[in-house]
Amino acid sequence: MEVREALYRRRSVRAFTAAAVSKKTLLQLVDAAIQAPSARNMQPWQFIVVTGKARERLAQRLVRAYEEELVAGQVPPTPELPEPYQSRVRQFGEALQPFSVQDPTFELMRGSLNFYGAPAVILLALDPHLSSDRLFDVGAGAQNLLLLAHSQGLGTCVIGIVLRYRELIREELQLPESLNLVMTVAVGYPNPAHPLAGFSSGRQDAAEFLTWIE
Ligand SMILES: Cc1cc2nc3c(=O)[nH]c(=O)nc-3n(C[C@H](O)[C@H](O)[C@H](O)COP(=O)(O)O)c2cc1C
Repeated sequence: MEVREALYRRRSVRAFTAAAVSKKTLLQLVDAAIQAPSARNMQPWQFIVVTGKARERLAQRLVRAYEEELVAGQVPPTPELPEPYQSRVRQFGEALQPFSVQDPTFELMRGSLNFYGAPAVILLALDPHLSSDRLFDVGAGAQNLLLLAHSQGLGTCVIGIVLRYRELIREELQLPESLNLVMTVAVGYPNPAHPLAGFSSGRQDAAEFLTWIE
């Protein structure tokens, strides 16, 4: 698949089959990530791949933590964003709405905390000794990973909501306290039979983001 096709066709996948992703494939994804540029070739990233029972236990604990917050009325409010972001987020929610009607079990929060049932989760971390400037490098690596996954018929969804439970993740996976968890990515084979397979996010016109200086 050409780069152009991969980057225009890639979209987040939120419904996966139960098929496992092989270790070899997951290693290839990480290897693609580390081909990204990094400042002075520092290669400041770390990857933690979670599959099998460990992935199940983690997802169960994340969902349980959220449900306990719900029961206790302690779910933190979602902060209002400045425009135009608040409107875009609203549009995103509205665009997903018809798909939640087709599958009433679909819910962004619980789905995210369960990594949408994807059989593999890749945690991306930044070396804790480095400044947040280096987040750019990890992001570049993440995009490589997403594109290679897409080109190989895999689906991915970047999952940031779980970062609310950083401490739980660290404890459950027995990761060092110093871990600087940046993002997580759900990886699996897309389920074409699920209504959400028909969902695709849109984009503004590029001109909205662009300033020419000549
Ligand atoms: C930093 C970041 C965090 C995200 N967190 C979540 C998440 O927690 N749950 C989710 O369903 N999607 C999440 N996404 C996916 C975005 O909703 C998605 O990328 C966006 O709507 C654009 O759609 P696309 O990926 O299909 O192009 C996240 C994406 C990014 C880049």
